Amino acid sequence: MKKKVLALSLAAAMAFSLAACGGAGGGEDTVANQDKPVVWYNRQPSNSTTGELNTEALNFNDDTYYVGFDANQGAELQGQMILDYIKAHIEEIDRNNDGIIGYVMAVGDIGHNDSIARTRGVRSALGTAVTKDDGTIVSDPVGTNTDGKSEFVQDGKLEIDGKTYIVRELASQEMKSSAGATWNDGAAGNAISTWSANFGEQIDIVASNNDGMGMSMFNAWSNEAGVPTFGYDANSDAVAAIANGYGGTISQHADVQAYLTLRVIRNALDGVDVQTGIGVADEAGNVLSDKEYVYKEDERSFYALNVAVTAENYEEFLDSTVTFPAVSNKLDAEKNPEKKVWLNIYNSADNFLSSTYKPLLEKYDDLLNLKVDYIAGDGQNEQSVSDRLTDPSAYDAFAINMVKTDNAVTYTTKLAQ
Ligand code: BGC
Ligand code: CA
Repeated sequence: MKKKVLALSLAAAMAFSLAACGGAGGGEDTVANQDKPVVWYNRQPSNSTTGELNTEALNFNDDTYYVGFDANQGAELQGQMILDYIKAHIEEIDRNNDGIIGYVMAVGDIGHNDSIARTRGVRSALGTAVTKDDGTIVSDPVGTNTDGKSEFVQDGKLEIDGKTYIVRELASQEMKSSAGATWNDGAAGNAISTWSANFGEQIDIVASNNDGMGMSMFNAWSNEAGVPTFGYDANSDAVAAIANGYGGTISQHADVQAYLTLRVIRNALDGVDVQTGIGVADEAGNVLSDKEYVYKEDERSFYALNVAVTAENYEEFLDSTVTFPAVSNKLDAEKNPEKKVWLNIYNSADNFLSSTYKPLLEKYDDLLNLKVDYIAGDGQNEQSVSDRLTDPSAYDAFAINMVKTDNAVTYTTKLAQ
């Protein structure tokens, strides 16, 4: 009985809101698709070769934003975390006592800003980075570099307690499946098997652009070999593995990013300031602080800040799908009536997006009264996603996770039709 009453009043509230502001699925659709809120997330519209931001896509309309995290700050943290580990374990780190601290690295996607930043962050911290004429650090994978002759990196030198050690990137590779999916954990597992078979005793550290690949290498080899492995994302399984010797990871504050992804949509649909419930508390008391994110107006981008997760603090991060407490208050369904959102995940097999980001989105969509249709892509073909955007007029807003960062126009063309 109670349920029915609730359903009725909800329907009444919805009917009211539809009449008041117009909305998708309500019969007459007054807002043109090209004027509806668009949030790019996780893959920032940018040139995959130069990294340059695609400002046109970021300014598609007045309600367009990007939500991601501060890639450089996180990359620096990852490099520093590995360096700190080396310093703290200098007595035993050089497993074959050849005076060289050797590491291998799994690269996610050579055309993805996050991946490039992490490769650079590890190289800068360990002194293996090579700088180009334009001042940027080379991020190309080396392939194999056991002889230290690669032009993409140099041998680093570390002075610890008056002793000098050489640091060498022994091998690195973009982890791509044969079908073309990037950040591929299977490829990373295969790579570590080959590397360890060929020069396993030289490998003292395993670094990875993300936890999906890191955990695959940990399970395939480094756990048993006792070689510290470092990833990125703080997925629950990786955090749990810290208890068993996984070296550490970085939280990119997915709990904050997933909130921001849906929150900027909510605000645009409500016609309120974009900072509502973000920089400024909303009526339900949701608010973030500058410890968790930065907003860059000129880039139309919200960037969550990163936190290092190591043996010292991992217990606080064991469940990566818990919403951020300060923004976990449900909105009033009458004041913020239900709206329909089209949201895609570029690769349903991506560890971070499927095991951390999506479960968070599913919690926030309830709190923000958004009805989200989750579309899963195959990670390789943009069409596996864009072909699913068949009827934009059935939605009030769009949250887009491109397969390739260059492809924003595929979506904006559809919305502008
Ligand atoms: C994550 C990766 C993920 C990628 C997908 C990155 O931010 O760290 O784990 O594979 O996004 O685009
Ligand atoms: Ca060594």
